[in-house]
This record gives sequence, C-alpha cells and structure tokens, in this order.
Amino acid sequence: MAEHPGAMTTIRASTAEEGDALAELRRALDAETAFMLAEPGERGSELPDQSYRFVADDGGRLVGVIDVFALRWRRARGRGAIVLGVRASAQGQGVGRALLNEAIAEARRRAMWRLELTTMRHNQVALGLYEACGFEVEGVRRSSVRMDGGFVDEVYMGLVLAPPGSAEMGDHLGDEPA
Ligand SMILES: CC(C)(COP(=O)(O)OP(=O)(O)OC[C@H]1O[C@@H](n2cnc3c(N)ncnc32)[C@H](O)[C@@H]1OP(=O)(O)O)[C@@H](O)C(=O)NCCC(=O)NCCS
Repeated sequence: MAEHPGAMTTIRASTAEEGDALAELRRALDAETAFMLAEPGERGSELPDQSYRFVADDGGRLVGVIDVFALRWRRARGRGAIVLGVRASAQGQGVGRALLNEAIAEARRRAMWRLELTTMRHNQVALGLYEACGFEVEGVRRSSVRMDGGFVDEVYMGLVLAPPGSAEMGDHLGDEPA
C-alpha cells in the first residue's frame, strides 16, 4: 500500500470483495473517456491467473485502477500487459503515475521481465506518463481503433525490466504446464 503524496488517495491491491465498486468505476471510466478500448458494459472484472490489479482509493471511493494481465504462454511468462484508467475528477493529481509506479514495483517483486501496453496515438497525456515512467515506443498499429466514424492508430509501448538472461530475470519456465 502506498500513500499518494499530497492527496488523500491510497494506492492498494484490489480485493476480491469489491467487484461492485470496480464495476461502477469501469462503467464511469469507459463512459468518461474515449481513450480506452472498451465502451461501457463491454468489460469484465475477472483477472486471469498471475495477473494483478491495484486501485486508487479516495476515502472509500475508487478513482483509478490499473490491471496487469500476465501472458500465460510459457515463452511469454513474466510479461504483463497494462490497462490504466483514472476518473476525470481525479486526473492531473499524480494518481495515474502512482498506480503505474506501484504496478512496476509489483512486477519487479514478481521478477517479471517486461511490461507493455498500447495507447491511442493522440493520447498525449498517457504517452507523456508512460514515457516519464520509462516506457519506450516500439511501434504503431495503424488504423486499429474505430472512432468518430473513422480510425485512429495505436502506439505499442514497452518497458524491459530485466534484460533476458540477466540474473534479475525470474525462472518463469517449467513452473506450470503450458
Ligand atoms: C492517462 C491517465 C491514466 C493519466 O493519469 P493522471 O492521474 O491524470 O496522470 P498524473 O496526474 O499521474 O500525471 C502523470 C504524468 O502524465 C502526464 N500528464 C498528466 N496530465 C497531462 C496533461 N494535461 N498534458 C500532458 N501530460 C500530462 C505528465 O507526464 C505527468 O507527469 P508530471 O505530473 O510529472 O508532469 C488518465 O488521464 C486517464 O485515465 N485518462 C483517460 C483514460 C486513458 O487515457 N487511459 C490510458 C489508456 S492507455
């Protein structure tokens, strides 16, 4: 659990009991922003094995969430895909950065070696945040999202936490059947 500096918002692991609060947050986020892929009602709340989630809790009200979806294939084990969202009312106060930093710290604790995400090319705030936290642009997925009667590009970004073969890299092979 981490205190977000200068605010009453706490970053903590999500609990199994807060499914309704999470669903409410998801509905609000997906309605407030067109920068996320899902439209309201399209998203589930369940996480696959080895994945994890942190929420930003503002005095009992969830104002942000970050999911790290662990890839299940053996050759990709230790690699996580990020989805991040902060309520409009809580944006610009460091909540997104705090959630992302906590997710990166947790990835390191789990000896994961790579985090990745996609963001829409014109989402300058998200691009700025991810770059500030060490993510690099790795490529562009052209015309990949339908929006306002047209198509927009997505940018692939990645953060390599431990170079393959380094001592930091956990042994992700062989611990579970593929
Ligand atoms: C993108 C998002 C997660 C950022 O969260 P946030 O809490 O608003 O961001 P923070 O206050 O932590 O700001 C972190 C960094 O983002 C960037 N940033 C924030 N607001 C910005 C703005 N208005 N313009 C440009 N960059 C901005 C800056 O790099 C900032 O770092 P700094 O404060 O040191 O300058 C949030 O705005 C959001 O959920 N947006 C809608 C959904 C979305 O776009 N999700 C990401 C999809 S990939």
